[in-house]
Amino acid sequence: MTHPLAPPIVAPSILSADFSRLAEALALAEPTRDWVHCDVMDNHFVPNLTFGPIVVAAARKLTRGFLDVHLMIEEPLRLVKAFREAGADELIVHLEACRDVAATLRAVRESGARVGLALKPGTPLAATEPHLGEIDLLLVMTVEPGFGGQAFMADMMPKVREAVAWRERHAARFLIEVDGGIAPDTAKVARAAGAEVFVAGHAIYGQPRPEIALATLRDAVR
Ligand code: DX5
Ligand code: ZN
Repeated sequence: MTHPLAPPIVAPSILSADFSRLAEALALAEPTRDWVHCDVMDNHFVPNLTFGPIVVAAARKLTRGFLDVHLMIEEPLRLVKAFREAGADELIVHLEACRDVAATLRAVRESGARVGLALKPGTPLAATEPHLGEIDLLLVMTVEPGFGGQAFMADMMPKVREAVAWRERHAARFLIEVDGGIAPDTAKVARAAGAEVFVAGHAIYGQPRPEIALATLRDAVR
């Protein structure tokens, strides 16, 4: 199937889902319009620990949707092949986690996955500039990575605007994603700054009617 690549796109983050009912959580995302965001954490790059390729492979069996896999792990280069084979459509690595960022991005490209680069709130856009011409997606974290349900950092919006300006100046083509504290109100703020892909965990799976929450979020960024 052809995956949606034209923004705006909402990406439900299964981090906040009930993993004993993963199939239901994944069924919420419509493969023709939404992405599915998978948060991989290693208790090293971030203090939390989640899941690895085995669960991504399970998600792959349960949905035809675009699997946007956010690797919050030290030295992701070692696991690029495993996550790609598990069925990831995009692999996002953190700038701060790679010894050789260019080589890691190249490995993701060679794996056949789309290439994403993420930066923590404390990392300036300037640090990513050597790589911005090589990527499909830039993830501007709007919380400190590690946990769902944190408050949106509106002070990251200048970074989003800076990324938009850089892309224009260099005729680059990466999408700009925001992740952390995204709900209908904050998604609107991020959209106005130029964000195009909106990851949301708590604002969807933490709600009494997740399918309504997802529809509300799609409307908010339209
Ligand atoms: C946080 C993760 C996020 C998380 C967002 O480190 O990268 O994807 O699921 O959760 P909410 O939307 O609840 O802030
Ligand atoms: Zn994430």
